[in-house]
This record gives sequence, structure tokens and C-alpha cells, in this order.
Amino acid sequence: MCGIVGYVGQRPCSELLLGGLERLEHRGYDSAGVALLAADSTALRVRAVGGIAQLRETLQRHPQRAALRTARTGIGHTRWATHGRVSEDNAHPLTDDRGRVQIVLNGIVENHAELRARLIAEGAAFASETDAEVVAHLVARALDHDGLAEAVRRSLATLRGHFAFVVASPEQPDTLVGTRRACPLVIGHGEGERYLGSALVGLPDALTGAQALDDDEVATLEADAVRVLDRGGRPARTRRLALGARIEQATLGTHESFTLAEIAEQPRALRRTLRAAPSGPGLDELPWVQLCAARRLTIVACGTSYHAGLVGRLLLERWAGLRVEVDIASEWRYRDPAIAPGDLVLGITQSGETADTIGALRTARASGANVLALTNVPGSQVTREASAVLLTDAGAEVGVAATKTFVTQVALLAALARQLGIARGTLPDAEAERLGDELQRLPAVAEAARAAAEQPIARAAERWGRAPFFLFLGRHVGLPVALEGALKLKEIAYIPSDAYAAGEMKHGPIALLGEGTPVVCVATQSPVLDKLRSNVAEVRARGAHVLAIATEGAAGVIADEADELVLVPPTDPLLSPIPAVVPLQLLAHAISSARGLDPDRPRNLAKTVTVE
Ligand code: AGP
Repeated sequence: MCGIVGYVGQRPCSELLLGGLERLEHRGYDSAGVALLAADSTALRVRAVGGIAQLRETLQRHPQRAALRTARTGIGHTRWATHGRVSEDNAHPLTDDRGRVQIVLNGIVENHAELRARLIAEGAAFASETDAEVVAHLVARALDHDGLAEAVRRSLATLRGHFAFVVASPEQPDTLVGTRRACPLVIGHGEGERYLGSALVGLPDALTGAQALDDDEVATLEADAVRVLDRGGRPARTRRLALGARIEQATLGTHESFTLAEIAEQPRALRRTLRAAPSGPGLDELPWVQLCAARRLTIVACGTSYHAGLVGRLLLERWAGLRVEVDIASEWRYRDPAIAPGDLVLGITQSGETADTIGALRTARASGANVLALTNVPGSQVTREASAVLLTDAGAEVGVAATKTFVTQVALLAALARQLGIARGTLPDAEAERLGDELQRLPAVAEAARAAAEQPIARAAERWGRAPFFLFLGRHVGLPVALEGALKLKEIAYIPSDAYAAGEMKHGPIALLGEGTPVVCVATQSPVLDKLRSNVAEVRARGAHVLAIATEGAAGVIADEADELVLVPPTDPLLSPIPAVVPLQLLAHAISSARGLDPDRPRNLAKTVTVE
């Protein structure tokens, strides 16, 4: 969360910084700002509440806009608020009370309260409610004795938490200093210029090279040189990043939102992800000896990626005979999961940067586990934490709500389960072949699901779009889909909704139902479809209105119980989450759109969650 960029070089950089911030805006859009070091070595700071568009407007009206346009060193920030409400005072860049440094920070300084109290006792005056401002004061004070890089290194030793920050100072106008601990920060090299950024995507395309910083390394950038020191002040060897590994930028096309464009793009994303199927991209690289010998696998993830993990558990258990546990990363990492050397732990994260998922993988690795990662972003932090990486190829996902990354995660987990089933001898040849064909058909199945859903979903959105509450029900492989449908409705349409295992409904949530409560039932083919039918009848008997997602040719009794029926094309039952989720994505989008909301940038959310 929060995107940071920095530039030092020979070109005027305000536009370069704004362009970088626009590409990082998915990390937060509460406020934005830049600090530019003008030719006379004064620091000009411009901040605005809102996104980069608001920042651009403020810059255009700025009385010193001419000086701003010529600056050749600068830093920028797009904020997702953690400490301190959304306001211009709390927007970054932040500075100390003597204006000696400007800083932009992503992450959290956990001991900010005690540091702030100490600094105030020493006479510092604070201008914001943020945790990050303490860093500006600490670095500025250290500048009394040291240069900028050493001042940052000394300050770092007093900070607790997870963060990345970049510092500029009018006292060293041709220098930028950046550091990180558990949050990402990369260095970009150009001809006579250097960049820092939260991710490669925030840096320009025309780079000649890139490096990733490790924890507590301090990078000093000048137009023609980069020096990186480790926490002991010794020269550090940084890792090169492959520039070719950047993922393609998204386009809106004729769609009204990126979210809708990305729902429509799912067949293509599936095709790309499965192009090397039946084995699937990255599968060859996996530690097959350990996978085959493993008795259990633990999957850790957050949000939508956790839902994909729930589908993955069913696939791996059924096809590969592996015992699988799935947990929310932020819970698992603070339990005592009894991970032993040789255990397998798989982290699923589309962004590759989610702090809790990365934290969980670090815990697993420290216990001697074999750590695997499944992500959509090559070169992301998680790829550096894992010993083997599975890559989906969904392309850049701009909408904050995950759509195409979910279906590609499920498809890749299915390819993994099938391959592992073959390797472990749990899938007979004929079955493995049939499943390989089913995987190949998934792009067409997803496309047909969208075409079939458009009209009934438009009717459902019209009919129930103003309902104050939705209940989603599913069983077995339908349950993760129900959870995902409810998450989509909450996050882009702001409608309170709950998702429940249908068999568990009568143990409590059924009390929520009244005349006309919309209940969405994921009733695609599964081993427990008959049981689900009874649950749907129970819901109907309480006056609820049912929207059922069912499989073409197998809708049976569900069709009689449904007020609105959406049929999706048949596939193997364990692959049904891919077609079944499409109508639920469309439902959330249609209601969001009808309510005049921006589905791409829901309030309070960010695409990349780098705080715990
Ligand atoms: C999904 O729509 C959400 N935006 C969110 O739950 C997301 O899936 C979660 O933050 C995990 O992100 P990751 O896949 O990048 O780790």
C-alpha cells in the first residue's frame, strides 16, 4: 500500500514522477504529493487530497509551477492512509520542522508513538498525524553529523516495523537515498538518470537495468552512480531484476470500467496461463521430489487469493491425494502451525507483495519448510521469498477487485493438481487425459459463461440492486465461489453480504432471511448438489428470493426453486468455480454501476496490501 517514486538525473522530472505515480495509483488513492528540488536548491512540496488527477490540477495552479517544471531531483507518493486521516497535512512527502529533508514512505513505523514522544521532548514540532513523520525528524537530526545516506542508515537502526522510504534533501540536491524493510523498493537505471520505486511498473519503460534492494540496505543514487550499503555500512551485492519480466499494461477498450474489461478478458488470461498446459507455466521448475513425497501442503493467502486456495485444496486432495490445509495468512502466521523441516507451504498472492502472505512464508521458511509461491507478478517480492514460483499470466489487473487473477489462480492450481496426481500415481491415465482436455476448454467455458450470464444478471441487478443485504450460499466447490461473490459485492457495490456453507445456514444465518431477501446459490455440479437443493428449498420456504447459478443440463430441481436462473456451461465439477464466478463478478459490477460507484477504485481499498 502506498506507492513511492524518486528520480535524480539530467531531465526535468515532475512529469516523470507523475507518470510513475499514475502507474502506482492502484496502491492507494487517498492523497498524493511530490517534492521537487528546484535549481536554487529549495524544496518545493505540492500535495493534494485525492488521486494523481487532483495532484496534477494543484501543480498546474501552483504559483511556482515554472520552477517545479525544471527540477531534476524529486520524490512522489500516492497514499493509502494508515496513521492519520485523509488530509493534505497527512499527505506525503513529509518534512521535518527545519525543512532539511523530504521523505515518502510506504508501510508502518510501529514504534512511531515512542519516537514521536522522544522527539517532541527534544523540541521537535510535528505537522502531521502520520507515523512516517518521525522518520523525517530522525534523518534531519542525524544530518547534523552525517551525510544523507549515513543519516538514513543511523535512523533505520531506531525504527521498528515494515516500510520502504526515499529521502531527498536540499542540502544534497543531486542525491536520493532509499531503504526498505519488508516493503518493496527497486532501483531503475537510465542514461544519466536513476529511479527508485515501489515496483518496476512505477518506473519508465526505457530503463537500461534494475535492481532490488534487500532488507535494511541503503541505496544512494546520483545521476551517474548507485551505491548500496548493507546494515553494517559495507557494500552490498544487490539482485538484478529482469526487465523483460514486466507484465503487460491493461487497456480499457470499449468497456465502461477496467473491472468489466478484465472480466471480459478472462478467457484470454486463462489461455495465456494454460498455454503450456497440461503441465502449465512454472510447473517444470517445481521441486517434484519433495512434492511427490509430501504428506501435506499448507496454503496461505488473503482475500480472493484465499478463495482460490480453497478451490485448490479440493483439487489437490481429489486429484493428487495430498492432505491440504488452507489458512488466511494474517491468522496462520500468528498461530503455532507446527511446520516442520521438509513441509510444503504455498503462498498465493496475485500482487506478490501482500505483507501478511510474505510474512507467513518467511515464518514457514524459518521453520525449515519448502516455500512455494503462486503470483501474477514476475519479480515481485514473493518470488524472492520462495524456492519455486508458479506464474499466472493474467496481465496487469487494474481493477482493485480481483477477477481475472482469481480464475487464472484456480486454473493453475488445477494444472498443478493434475500434474501432481500423475506424478504421485493418484490419477489414472485416462482421467488425467480427460482433465487435460477440460483444462484446455476452460477459456471457451469462461467465455460462454459470460455470454449466458449477461441478460439474467442484468435482470437480477435491476430487481435486487437496492436490497440492503445479500446472502450467498454454496457447498463443497460452490462455497469458495459463494465467498468470492459476496466479497465482490461488498467491495465494489458496498452492499452488506454474507457467504455461508449452505449446510451450516440453519445453524444461525437463516434468521437473517425475510420476505424477498436475495439469496444467491452457487448450485453448479458437485458431489453434494442434492443436499444443496434441500437447502435452497429451506431458503425459499422462508420467503427469500433465489438467484441460482447452475450447470447447463443439470439444473434440475434448482431451476424450480429459483426466481432467477443463470446457467453456466458444464465442465469437470471441480473446475466449475471458473464459469460459476463469472455471473457473480458481473452481478457486483452491474449493481456498482447502477449505484453510480467507481468499481475500479472502491473506497478505502488498495490493490496491493503491503501493510499487515
Ligand atoms: C480482491 O478482490 C481484493 N481486492 C483482495 O481481497 C485481494 O484478493 C487481497 O488483498 C489479496 O491480494 P493478493 O492476491 O495480491 O495477495
